[in-house]
Parts: sequence; C-alpha cells; structure tokens
Amino acid sequence: MRDKFAVVTGASTGIGAAIAERLAAHGAHLVLVARSADKLDEAAARLSRRHGVTVRTLPLDLATADAPTRLAKTLADEGIEVEMLVNNAGVSARGPVLDGDPARFRSLIDINVNALTELTTLLMPAMVARGHGAVVNIASTGGYIPALYLAVYAATKAYVVSFTQALWAETQGTGVRVVAVSPGPTKTPMNTRGTRSAEAVAATVLRALSGNGPAVVDGKVNALNAFLFGRLLPTRLVLAVARRMMARSGV
Ligand SMILES: NC(=O)c1ccc[n+]([C@@H]2O[C@H](COP(=O)([O-])OP(=O)(O)OC[C@H]3O[C@@H](n4cnc5c(N)ncnc54)[C@H](OP(=O)(O)O)[C@@H]3O)[C@@H](O)[C@H]2O)c1
Repeated sequence: MRDKFAVVTGASTGIGAAIAERLAAHGAHLVLVARSADKLDEAAARLSRRHGVTVRTLPLDLATADAPTRLAKTLADEGIEVEMLVNNAGVSARGPVLDGDPARFRSLIDINVNALTELTTLLMPAMVARGHGAVVNIASTGGYIPALYLAVYAATKAYVVSFTQALWAETQGTGVRVVAVSPGPTKTPMNTRGTRSAEAVAATVLRALSGNGPAVVDGKVNALNAFLFGRLLPTRLVLAVARRMMARSGV
C-alpha cells in the first residue's frame, strides 16, 4: 500500500480510525470519510504528521442517496486512484423491531448496505482493470447469528457477509482482494461494553488482506461463536438460547 490511496469510510472514530492508523503506518495515503469534519481533520493532521502520508478528508453523510456517486466523482475529479476501499461506516439500532422507527431502519440500511454496495460497484471496476487492489467490507459476528433486539442491524451484516462472499467468488483471478471482516463486541463509541479493541480488529483486517479467503472473523472466541451459533447448531435452538439469555439479562 506504500504511496497508494486507501478510502476508509467511518474513519472518524472506533474501528475505522484504527484501520486508517494501521494503513498510514504502512505508508498508505488516505481518503477519510464520515460526517464529522472536525474529527476527520484532526485525524488527518495526526496521521500525516506521524506517518508522512497524504490524507484527504471528505465529510459526507452516507445515508443520503447520492453520497456514493458524489464520493466517486470527487475522487475521479482529483485524479485519486483508489487501491483499497474499506467499507467500515456502520450504525446500529437496538430494541424490538416493533418498537422501532421505520425511518431510522431505512437510514441504517442505506449506510450499512446501500452505501457499501454502491461504493464497491463504483470503485472496484477500476481496480479490476488495473489488475490489483482490495475491497474490505466490515461486517459483524451478528451477520452469522440472528440477533434479537438488533434484528435490522444483524440482517444488514448478514447481507455484508453474503454479498462479499459472492463478490469474492465472482472476482477470483482479477488480482483484486475481496474480504469481509467480522468483529465481535469491540470497545468503540458504538459499543462501550465491547471486549476486543479497535486496534485488534484493525490488525485482523491487515492479516485478512494478506490471506485469500472470502471472510474472516476477528478473535478466536468470536470465530468459534460464529461457527457454532451461526453454522453448526440449528437456528431454532440458537434463537431459543438467545431468548432465554435475553430474558435472564432483563432485556
Ligand atoms: N463496535 C462493535 O462492537 C462492532 C461489532 C461488530 C461490527 N462492528 C462494525 O464496525 C464498523 C465500525 O463500527 P465502530 O464500532 O467503530 O463504530 P463507531 O465508533 O460508532 O464508528 C462508526 C463510524 O461510522 C461513521 N458514520 C456513522 N454514520 C455515518 C453516516 N451517515 N455517514 C458517514 N459516516 C457515518 C461515524 O462517523 P460520523 O459519526 O462522524 O459520521 C464513525 O466514523 C461498523 O460497520 C460496525 O457495524 C462494530
């Protein structure tokens, strides 16, 4: 990645900020995307000072319908060749589906699913034409296991896992690395009770890039849980256990 550009969405905090830091440490120039212009500017100043890389910030609300095309156009206008796209921006919504706000669900799906899909579709063809590049989509262990009271969020992450796995298969032999990385509970502003660190997830992203499989789960315990509860055990049993655990925790 030395002297090549990586676009990282959701780079103002948490896992995205940690991924940006890691990539900068490897000499990558960066395009940082999120809504908070001030946080992006702070990160840009810090990363370019610390690692000597070029950092462009693009404050953008990825829930708006034309955000991905605006982002792609800005990159093209500025002559930035994107070597890596990290679709990390994501939001969550906790609570029973029937108590939820449909507009909030729509916005969540726009960020977690639509922006990720559109950015991939807009930016990946140039990588394929050049014969190298990478697309990293940040999913979640919730993408493997139906999650009570996080139903819409987990469903968007199941989309991310499935979409990325199929894209991986469709683009074999192009020279472009495609991988879904799924964190489990990680301590960030989104999840203050997370147990893994954002830096650990960023390290997993870097390792996933040098592997060749379509999907990676961050952390051994998370990987075991995703396999057990998401692939091995019958879904009805998994849901029954989850309901009981939720009831016991008072949710
Ligand atoms: N933390 C966990 O336990 C966990 C577990 C599994 C998966 N993940 C996934 O990891 C990714 C990063 O999450 P995180 O924990 O690091 O959360 P976070 O600290 O809340 O960061 C989310 C990032 O997305 C950006 N973002 C949110 N809404 C946006 C919008 N409308 N337009 C553009 N950017 C937007 C935020 O920046 P602004 O607010 O400045 O826009 C921020 O940079 C997400 O995809 C999340 O689903 C997290």
